[in-house]
Amino acid sequence: EKGGFEHFMLKEIYEQPKAIKDTMSCRITKDGKHVHFEELNWTPEDVKSIGKILITACGTAYHAGLLAKYFIEKLARIPVEVDIASEYRYRDPLTDSKTLCIVISQSGETIDTLAALKEAKRRGARSLAVTNVVGSSISREADQVAYTWAGPEIAVASTKAYTTQLVTLLLLSLYMGRLNGNLPVDREEKILADLTKLPDQCQGIFDQVDFIKGLCSTFKDKEDVFFIGRSMDYGLAMEGALKLKEISYIHAESYAGGELKHGTLSLIEAGVPVIALATQLEVEEKMISNIKEVKARDAYVVGVVQDGDTEVGKTVDDLIKVPASDDFVVPILAIIPLQLLAYYIAVSRGNDVDKPRNLAKSVTVE
Ligand code: F6R
Repeated sequence: EKGGFEHFMLKEIYEQPKAIKDTMSCRITKDGKHVHFEELNWTPEDVKSIGKILITACGTAYHAGLLAKYFIEKLARIPVEVDIASEYRYRDPLTDSKTLCIVISQSGETIDTLAALKEAKRRGARSLAVTNVVGSSISREADQVAYTWAGPEIAVASTKAYTTQLVTLLLLSLYMGRLNGNLPVDREEKILADLTKLPDQCQGIFDQVDFIKGLCSTFKDKEDVFFIGRSMDYGLAMEGALKLKEISYIHAESYAGGELKHGTLSLIEAGVPVIALATQLEVEEKMISNIKEVKARDAYVVGVVQDGDTEVGKTVDDLIKVPASDDFVVPILAIIPLQLLAYYIAVSRGNDVDKPRNLAKSVTVE
């Protein structure tokens, strides 16, 4: 059942090329130029009438929502608010009939996400569920559903569900941007062309697995790890830190690069490991300044960059290269080495990777 892999988590990491392909191929027209969600079948008016989008979810699915805010605001120019489901449901939110509520959930059974969806509906919002499980409670409660076609995810730590959520949300942003007239046609074509290459590009990361395993000896006895990034890399840093904490039991924190000097820099001293995500070209220069801030305190820095980058490598101790792609597509690739790193560190510490202590795959209690 594990298909020759030692754990479900590793199997599911390696299933990502197929899961991504399955999730996107049914939504891209044959000529590869446009996105179409048959299951939604929205008109331009449907999209133009959205005043704001509320995204709500828990854990890893919430992290997918944080990236979706960048996708939607940049590509479709609709304001997006992202909220943790257990917070949203108790805060007397400003949700009305002009709101589109998007809930994200692998299992479709998370109680807080389901309750948040009901609360948004009660306040008059339209709703869309992005979920992996056909017929799940959340899929039945939402007005419409866009399924992620990741296949069953067994390991507690979410991997292929997260990357397929990102794919679905990126496609949805392109779809909305075209329908409301905010997305130039050539921009849609370029992103789709790069998305289409993504399943094959995953191999470029799997080829570095020995290098990633080699990094484990440095991490395995550390007490704290920091993840830093800007823009979409900040959302990715949060997901990378969660993955590491969840299965390796090493404490990890994620910070927006620009926030370090507002407090966290005091924690950085010689040998403290920092994973610096620098895949977003728009903010690369700023990110390099942040890397220099931690290097000046003798931190041990692993950079994650797009292949071909020449600048970040000069400032870090070790470098993971992600195949080059559009800035919107690259996060979907860049999370994979972080999943692998968390996995191999957890294995080297002798942990039960597929069933980490105190956690359940589906959280159906508050
Ligand atoms: C982390 C993880 C959890 C889930 C969260 C929401 O690896 O798996 O953080 O993402 O419990 O679960 P779903 O997506 O089923 O609502």
